[in-house]
Amino acid sequence: MNKQAKPPVIGAGYLYHCVPAFAALHARVEELGGHADIMEYLGAHYASDPEYLADVSASMGSLPSTLHSFELMIGSVDRPKQAVTDRLARMVELSDCRYIGEHIGIMGTTEQYTGTFIQPFGTDEQTQCFIDNLTGLDEVVGCPITIENQAQWFDQVGPRSVCEQVRDIAEGADVGILLSLSNFITAEKHHPMDREKELAVLPLDRVWQVHLPLGNAQELQSPDMARYRREQEWADRTLEELFAEPDFRPISVIFEVEDALTAANASAEQLKDALDRGRELLGVAGNGGRP
Ligand SMILES: [Fe+2]
Repeated sequence: MNKQAKPPVIGAGYLYHCVPAFAALHARVEELGGHADIMEYLGAHYASDPEYLADVSASMGSLPSTLHSFELMIGSVDRPKQAVTDRLARMVELSDCRYIGEHIGIMGTTEQYTGTFIQPFGTDEQTQCFIDNLTGLDEVVGCPITIENQAQWFDQVGPRSVCEQVRDIAEGADVGILLSLSNFITAEKHHPMDREKELAVLPLDRVWQVHLPLGNAQELQSPDMARYRREQEWADRTLEELFAEPDFRPISVIFEVEDALTAANASAEQLKDALDRGRELLGVAGNGGRP
């Protein structure tokens, strides 16, 4: 039996940054009659005080969550330290976390964090390393783990492109995928990706979550923001096109508001509309995964 079978649809949410501006944004969306069904929290924000996540989750209305993580460092040949897995397991408990989203990148070793997400080599050895590290890790942290495609940084090394490697890891370790449209956009700064080709190799039925940017609409209207406006349009259009595919049935759509194409965050009005559209595409009224 596949113990990581995809759960029922949860709904739409956004990546929450633990700063006052986001608390105000959340409150304003609710004042406008909007709501999120799921919150995405960055595990690293709570590394020094995991218990604080309980307070944050309560202030968000105790919604289900997903933890966005790089701390497991599954690209390293070393297994994650127990202190790291214990910490994440505690956060999973405190935030009603339904699944973790972990990066398919090289973040460092168990001793050293490089400070960024480097594109892994597409070799057999590196691919197997990810698979081995994922095996049984869900039981250690207390929830399923999904894997996120990274931005390409340099020429392909080895037989696999970024998304071919994500496909092979997802299938080899039997895990879900966090499909980041944002990371295709990020790649433009380093090594542009063949987006259509890359999307076409992903097993869409394995996608649990989508990440896409939500830039500030007013800022995107500025003439010197034309490139970013086109990227926002690409992300919005691609999301619609993906949902037209019969195999594409994610359980959540998560908007990235901070540092998403524009300096200013999306407005509460924009976020409310985006969450409504996300729910519409997911085909749910949005009950936060609860009966
Ligand atoms: Fe990410």
